[in-house]
Amino acid sequence: MNNINPTSTQAWKKLIQLAEIKKGENIRSLFSNPNRFSENSIQIEDILLDYSKNRIDGETKQVLLDLVREIDLRSAIESMFTGQKINLTENRAVLHTALRNRSNDPVFFEGKDVMPDINTVLAQMKNFAEQVYGGKWLGYTGKPIKSLVNIGIGGSDLGPVMVTEALKPYQNPDLEIHFVSNVDGTHIAETLKKVDPETTLFFIASKTFTTQETMTNAHTARAWFMEHAKKDEAVAKHFAALSTNAKAVAEFGIDTANMFAFWDWVGGRYSLWSAIGLPIACVIGFDNFEQLLAGAHSMDQHFRKAEFDKNIPVLLALIGIWNTNFLGATSEAILPYDQYMHRFAAYFQQGNMESNGKYVSRNNEKVNYPTGPIIWGEPGTNGQHAFYQLIHQGTHLIPCDFIASAKSHNPIGDHHNKLLSNFFAQTEALMNGKGLEEVQAEMKAAGKSTEEIEKIAPHRVFEGNRPTNSILVKEINPYTLGQLIAMYEHKIFVQGVIWNILSFDQWGVELGKVLANAIFPELEHDDEISSHDASTNGLINAYKAMRK
Ligand code: F6P
Repeated sequence: MNNINPTSTQAWKKLIQLAEIKKGENIRSLFSNPNRFSENSIQIEDILLDYSKNRIDGETKQVLLDLVREIDLRSAIESMFTGQKINLTENRAVLHTALRNRSNDPVFFEGKDVMPDINTVLAQMKNFAEQVYGGKWLGYTGKPIKSLVNIGIGGSDLGPVMVTEALKPYQNPDLEIHFVSNVDGTHIAETLKKVDPETTLFFIASKTFTTQETMTNAHTARAWFMEHAKKDEAVAKHFAALSTNAKAVAEFGIDTANMFAFWDWVGGRYSLWSAIGLPIACVIGFDNFEQLLAGAHSMDQHFRKAEFDKNIPVLLALIGIWNTNFLGATSEAILPYDQYMHRFAAYFQQGNMESNGKYVSRNNEKVNYPTGPIIWGEPGTNGQHAFYQLIHQGTHLIPCDFIASAKSHNPIGDHHNKLLSNFFAQTEALMNGKGLEEVQAEMKAAGKSTEEIEKIAPHRVFEGNRPTNSILVKEINPYTLGQLIAMYEHKIFVQGVIWNILSFDQWGVELGKVLANAIFPELEHDDEISSHDASTNGLINAYKAMRK
């Protein structure tokens, strides 16, 4: 992959000029072009992206597209898809796209086709998932499994949580799934209260099989299980491991027949397509899991082949670059108008922030431009009654992605049209705003006094001109969800390439882990601590006093 400081490109310099020249430009005025919607929206199968409500005119769009040509995005994409070791600091390839390569065309890593191994694990997953889904996997007393408990954290938790929630309408109603991630004992304790050891299957999901939280929860779950089952051989019917670390799985005592492997070229936050997706396959059925893979594969093909000016992930990435690097946005909101998608923003909080929250470039130097924004969001319409105030009238520019489905899985009365009317209204309001004159006229018509109008009107003004993308999906189903996830994954990839950072490592999470491991033994006794700075010592000693 190229190693280019984006600020050194001709396109970047031109974009700085354009941002200055066009800073007074209003999105609304761009709609004087009657073709603005058709020229700034794309439909791929059942997904429509409308990006016309951005502060981007035809000229800016062209220069943004020049930027990706100048940095040779095309060859970076090929490097990822063809198994080059683009994760430089870990000396690894990045091949989550191979996991969902439904064409089954060979994908080579270090000269070996990875597809046969992927297919072997998929076949193993299929066999297992079909038994669990079909009520044929029996516990140690011969009863079918009813409860699945996934124990994992980060990428080994958020993907399966988000997908199983988003695809709840596809779940087998005879199965329930729980997720335990936090090392806070409350998480496992409250979960164990809800399940019966005779009918519960635990998935220990950890790429490394060393993560403190997961291993602590896994040991607690096994101890709880053994209290009831009493015999070691029962473990094989109730514990499965999803991991790259076969040795640690064997040491933990999980039957190797119940170990589902993946490989170090699968990043944790890109792992739901791997064995980490097994709990998903168990509750929605393997056919639906395959549809999820197929949807992602279709987006992969689009991303790899489509021209950049018609390429959804590339356009989303460029819009984000414009907002972050030229308009000064520091965060992005993801706002699904779909209750089942309520963990989608949390999922891409990890996906995006762990990938692009970096200040060191591929050059090993500190970057001189902003990189990954803060990602946040909640489902609409709840967010409207919580934080949209700031999006509409706050001092921060917050670009938003609004996501909705045309067909509801629960078409009750007029709920869906009410939901969607809010979805459409919000992007309209954020763009158009409401001027002082309009507010004054409205208040006058409502019979307000001149004095009151003077006092209140400024607070009711909306500046508007706030950028949004609208993503309208025919229906959230396994296939379209796969497309949406892959779409954001590739957006993140493109931005990492432009920012010239390494999107596939996560060294930033290490320091806290190391320090926690050093502090942990200090908490195991009551002696006063003096090995840290005064604040940390003070807090630890106060904790020791308070816990007595
Ligand atoms: O601490 C961050 C992280 O390494 C994530 O990248 C990863 O998804 C998570 O921890 C869990 O890691 P593992 O699957 O190895 O338990």
